[in-house]
Amino acid sequence: MKTQVAIIGAGPSGLLLGQLLHRAGIDNVIVERKDPEYILSRIRAGVLEQGMVDLLREAGVNERMDAHGLVHDGFELAFDGRCERIDLKALTGGRTVMVYGQTEVTRDLMEARAAAGAVTLYDAENVQPHGMQSDSPYLTFERNGETVRLDCDYIAGCDGFHGVSRQSIPQETLKIFERVYPFGWLGILAETPPVSHELIYSNHERGFALCSMRSPTRTRYYVQVGAEEQVEDWSDERFWEELKRRLPATVAEQLVTGPSIEKSIAPLRSFVVEPMQYGRLFLLGDAAHIVPPTGAKGLNLAASDVSTLYRILLKVYGEGRTDLLEKYSSICLRRVWKAERFSWWMTSILHRFPETDAFSQRLQKTELDYFTGSAAGRKTIAENYVGLPYEAIE
Ligand code: APR
Ligand code: PHB
Repeated sequence: MKTQVAIIGAGPSGLLLGQLLHRAGIDNVIVERKDPEYILSRIRAGVLEQGMVDLLREAGVNERMDAHGLVHDGFELAFDGRCERIDLKALTGGRTVMVYGQTEVTRDLMEARAAAGAVTLYDAENVQPHGMQSDSPYLTFERNGETVRLDCDYIAGCDGFHGVSRQSIPQETLKIFERVYPFGWLGILAETPPVSHELIYSNHERGFALCSMRSPTRTRYYVQVGAEEQVEDWSDERFWEELKRRLPATVAEQLVTGPSIEKSIAPLRSFVVEPMQYGRLFLLGDAAHIVPPTGAKGLNLAASDVSTLYRILLKVYGEGRTDLLEKYSSICLRRVWKAERFSWWMTSILHRFPETDAFSQRLQKTELDYFTGSAAGRKTIAENYVGLPYEAIE
């Protein structure tokens, strides 16, 4: 088999890159180790930056998002028994975020790809990239009992944190930056109306809590739990009680509870690999970086990597600008590190850390009080939350 761009992984990174390239007439094949049902059963992020929304529009997959996504002009920070609103729209000259689940984005992209007749090879085992430093890289994998070779010009490693792409790069050429947090997020999805029409991030002495949503009738709530906690130990009742205790009383009184549809614990991690490229292999999304979910940046960073590689490849195939290829990693990393910084900062001011002493607790509260009480502070939070600009590819 032969294609121009071989994409490993059919998560949001791989599917969005594939859709953009396909529309631009650049041939691509996605090779994925799972099946579509498995991929669509994962409940992940839910907040899209304006930049990602625009990119989905450019990819022509905006119909359901525009019909069902919820545009949010602001969000709330709760601490010290009070709620402070960050007015995203007013503070950023009109920018907003879109609440629309990653699962729905993925479904829309899968349907668009199937309708366009572009090739996705699911259930591929033992995918391996080869010849990344040569002019003729290729993938090998096993599918339906046969070994397949896929020749290509470039390989896009969109295979997530545990994928094979990053692991196929000689480790001595990579530098890893990592921080593992001593807690996780226990999240539930429920068929209940949201407690508020905007998201509420709550700092509480019992630990962080987040009120989010997927639609006017479906909610997503989280509470910070210890790293060793087991989801089996959390009945729905226990979850709702804990959530209520961590919210301001006026909010807790309004909370509508109900049976959970999904319940899981996710660990929190910051991770960056440098560079995000090895010859003709490019790393995108979770394959290259992880952020803790507190700033809602994971999915959005994947989209900005996709935008960068897509615009570079447009110029490579359209204008012969192969000089741009070596700039991919540094362009991505400038934005990645700023999102890492914001996610780390939001995590550190909103969570209870095991080592937090009385002095650190006062500082945390003061940081929230200062930032929300200062026009410059509110603006800093808002411009990061709606998403920093994508760098031009020239
Ligand atoms: N071979 C083929 N496919 C693989 C391999 C492999 N060795 N390893 C992993 N994959 C597939 C996974 O099954 C998955 O479908 O790659 C895909 C990676 O998808 P994601 O983990 O969703 O990563 P990405 O597309 O970069 O999405 C960005 O943003 O909000 C965050 O973590 C959240 O998933 C989200 C991410
Ligand atoms: C979510 O709805 O899942 C969500 C929202 C905001 C975050 C993280 C997760 O910061």
